[in-house]
Amino acid sequence: MQTLFTNIKELLQVRPANIDKVSGSAMAILPKIDNAFLLIENDLIVDFGPMENCPKTTDATIIDASGRVILPTWVDSHTHIVYAGNRIQEFVDRINGLSYEEIFNRGGGILNSATKLNETLEDEIYEQSKLRLEEVMQQGTGAVEIKSGYGLTVEGELKMLRVIKRLKENYPIAIKATFLGAHAFPEAYKEDHKAYIDLIINEMLPKIATEGLADYIDAFLETGYFSVEETIKIMEVGKKYGLISKIHVNQFTAIGGIKACVEQGALSVDHLEIVTDEDIAVLKDSNTMPVALPSCSYFISIPYTPARKMMNAGLPLALASDYNPGTTPSGNMNFVVATACIKMKMTPEEAINAATINGAYAMGISATHGSITKGKKANILLTQPLTSYYELPYSFGTNLIDKVMIEGKFI
Ligand code: NIG
Ligand code: FE
Repeated sequence: MQTLFTNIKELLQVRPANIDKVSGSAMAILPKIDNAFLLIENDLIVDFGPMENCPKTTDATIIDASGRVILPTWVDSHTHIVYAGNRIQEFVDRINGLSYEEIFNRGGGILNSATKLNETLEDEIYEQSKLRLEEVMQQGTGAVEIKSGYGLTVEGELKMLRVIKRLKENYPIAIKATFLGAHAFPEAYKEDHKAYIDLIINEMLPKIATEGLADYIDAFLETGYFSVEETIKIMEVGKKYGLISKIHVNQFTAIGGIKACVEQGALSVDHLEIVTDEDIAVLKDSNTMPVALPSCSYFISIPYTPARKMMNAGLPLALASDYNPGTTPSGNMNFVVATACIKMKMTPEEAINAATINGAYAMGISATHGSITKGKKANILLTQPLTSYYELPYSFGTNLIDKVMIEGKFI
């Protein structure tokens, strides 16, 4: 089965297969073809180029994309979309003056979601989570990482990861599962961190490995959550099970966590609202992708990741949503891209690179996703007629995506 898009006004993010991420000044370049064609066969991109080279195929379904932009679907490398209920009361509490930290210290925050998760049946969690997945697919996300971390018990963590597994089986979108048992210390372990870490290592991880439920491992490395030493332990044991780390770090404080993550070979370090010069030096020339989550900064009113400073130092940067009930109840990557432009002063080119090819790197899928490349998955966004792709972040509140194709099929 073939689909041929013709007369595409701008075909964005056209890359050779050997590019797996872009860094520093290269992020300002978004390779594109004006007046292009794009040929899809089954689930793959098989050809593209300027219209004068358009194949005269007869069996393809032809879609005239005059006036429209085509780009790869968003790659959202950091979400927590499997959860139960919501945290609407905490939202109002913050409006009334409480901070995220104060809410957590009262037993709310992650522990509030953990209570709800453990009280909810797996089928019900699946039903709630699939609606979020369907929502983000409609918004243009074509690959998504999903974390556990609201169980914080053996059964709760397994329940979350089994829900992620069902989502993987039932939806065409690429999903990577990340085990985040080290998200917060449950109340009963507040005074005995070692016992909870032992539970993760001796009870959770072996079962997760036996069922093949996780692709990556994560921890919340932060003052009041997991220390540098505790997180190193989690990363080391994760590696023994073949789980590379993707770590929540530097959201509120810089305590040397990024260095530890880079030394452990983390695939990504995520949040980075607070970044020191030393953190930047450590990330330079590493294989670890820094990931910014601007919707989180927006929602809980914390600083934005210093993207300009990081890119000026030559670093790459990825953008992800962080969709979760506490700090980011939105998985809309169009908003993420627009907010990165508006609040972090990323150019549209930089933001689109960060939300596609660099997101794919942060998920470990850049061989198949994140760019318009022959042989990659046919995951594309077809926009409404636009002046140019600048309109995507400019008209930040308007849905400009007309159609989403995932693995060769419109959803
Ligand atoms: O990425 N910071 C840690 N984890 C999530 C939020 C967790 C929550 O409040 O539910 C985050 O922001
Ligand atoms: Fe997160």
